[in-house]
Formats: sequence, structure tokens, C-alpha cells
Amino acid sequence: MRIVMLGAPGSGKGTQAQRIQKDHGLVQISTGDLLRRAVADKTPLGEKAKKAMDLGNLVSDDIVLGMIKERIAQPDAERGFILDGFPRNLSQANSLDALLAELTLTLDRVVLMDVDFDVLMKRLTGRRTCSTTGAVLNVYFSPPAELEACRKAGGELLQRKDDNEVTIRNRLQVYERDTAPLVDHYTQKGLLATVPATAEVDVVYARLKSALGLT
Ligand code: AP5
Repeated sequence: MRIVMLGAPGSGKGTQAQRIQKDHGLVQISTGDLLRRAVADKTPLGEKAKKAMDLGNLVSDDIVLGMIKERIAQPDAERGFILDGFPRNLSQANSLDALLAELTLTLDRVVLMDVDFDVLMKRLTGRRTCSTTGAVLNVYFSPPAELEACRKAGGELLQRKDDNEVTIRNRLQVYERDTAPLVDHYTQKGLLATVPATAEVDVVYARLKSALGLT
């Protein structure tokens, strides 16, 4: 299966894509994660992307498309993948269509993770990543046992640089302006399924699997 996950910052794309990857073997391809790794490794691409990311703006299409092309070509993507955070605008969506056509592949489903707007700020300001396990947690919503498990594993709870209120506000505006139009784009193609995603993680996961026809 080849899936695109759409949704505002904080709508749970990464959380749910990780679970699908673990349970169903589809590879999560997150452009945000790929870009953050390039920034951390101080690669030339990372140096170019850093400024836009720190401000919560989109990185240029050519950088992101190059990364996606390279990642989709890797052997583990042959079984299928979930694109998390890509495409982010109409131009990227058209480039994705062209790339898949070139590879004689098609998209099976596009899911929109639909979350009440006022929940997003709390989810994003509360997000932490465990430095040892890589688990994505939340100081407001994760069960205390999960937060404690990170500390017991010798990990620290790290906060993303762009998870501050000013940058989050810009990311949400960029989503509304550039990414939300993709909902119509994929509806017209008959590919869109909307997943109500304000509920608890397990409930959302069950809804997502049902939207994807996974058991
Ligand atoms: P990216 O990393 O893609 O960030 P984003 O789209 O802003 O999405 P997030 O990762 O913030 O949210 P998410 O939906 O994955 O939520 P999560 O599961 O973590 O992009 C970062 C930057 O990179 C962009 O601003 C841009 O600069 C650049 N970029 C990336 N892709 C690009 C592209 N294609 N083109 C150009 N530039 C690009 O959950 C959030 C929190 O909520 C967590 O703490 C989690 O534990 C919690 N949570 C999740 N689900 C629930 C639930 N059901 N109940 C309670 N809490 C929950």
C-alpha cells in the first residue's frame, strides 16, 4: 500500500504512522524527520533547510523532492510506504504524481487526520521526544508510566526547536494556506478518507486502520 497522511501540525501523523509501520510493515517516510536529520548532521542540504524550519516555513520544493525520490527508491519502500508530511502544497502533489507515474506506481489512499484546531497548540507545546528510545511523547497527554519509561531508559525528554508558540502559529498558518488545499485536490481524485483524530491515540489508531482497510 502507498499512503499519504495529511493533517495540521500536531494532528498525530507521526504518532500514527509509526504504529502502522510497526504493525503492518509499511515504511514511514517523514520529510520532517529526514530534514531534521540533515540539519543535525550539518549536511549542505541541512544547512539550506535550517532557516526555513526554524521559522516554521516550508523548505524549498526541490530539496524535499530530491529527498523523497531517494527514499522511495530504497529497497524497504518496495512493500509500501506512508508519506508523513509530504506533499505539503499543490506543486509537491503534482511532482509526486509525476514521480509515481515514472515508477509505474499509484497511491492507494490519502488520509486526513482531522483534529480540532484548539487542541493543536497544547499537543505541540507538550510534545517531547525521548533521547534514547526515540518515542514521541507528550507531557500533557502521555500516561506517566510512558514518560517514566524514558527516564528509566536513561533518556531525556527533548523538545523540538520549532515547538514554541510563535513558530507553531506560523506553521499552522502555512498549513492553512499551502497544505489544506490538498484536501480538495485528493477528494477530486477519489482518494481522500477523513479520520476524526481528536480522540485518544488508541481510538484514532482503530479509526485509521479502518479507513485504510487494515485489520
Ligand atoms: P514536520 O516534522 O512534518 O512537522 P509538522 O507537519 O508540523 O507535523 P508535526 O510533526 O508537528 O505533527 P504530527 O502530525 O506528526 O504530530 P505528532 O504525531 O508528532 O515538519 C517540520 C518542518 O519541516 C516544517 O515546518 C517545514 O519547515 C519542514 N518540512 C517538512 N516537510 C516538508 C515538506 N514536504 N515541504 C517543505 N517543508 C517541509 O503528535 C504531536 C503531539 O501530540 C505529540 O506529543 C503526540 O504524543 C501527541 N499526540 C498525538 N496523537 C495524540 C492523541 N490522539 N491524543 C493526545 N495526544 C496526541
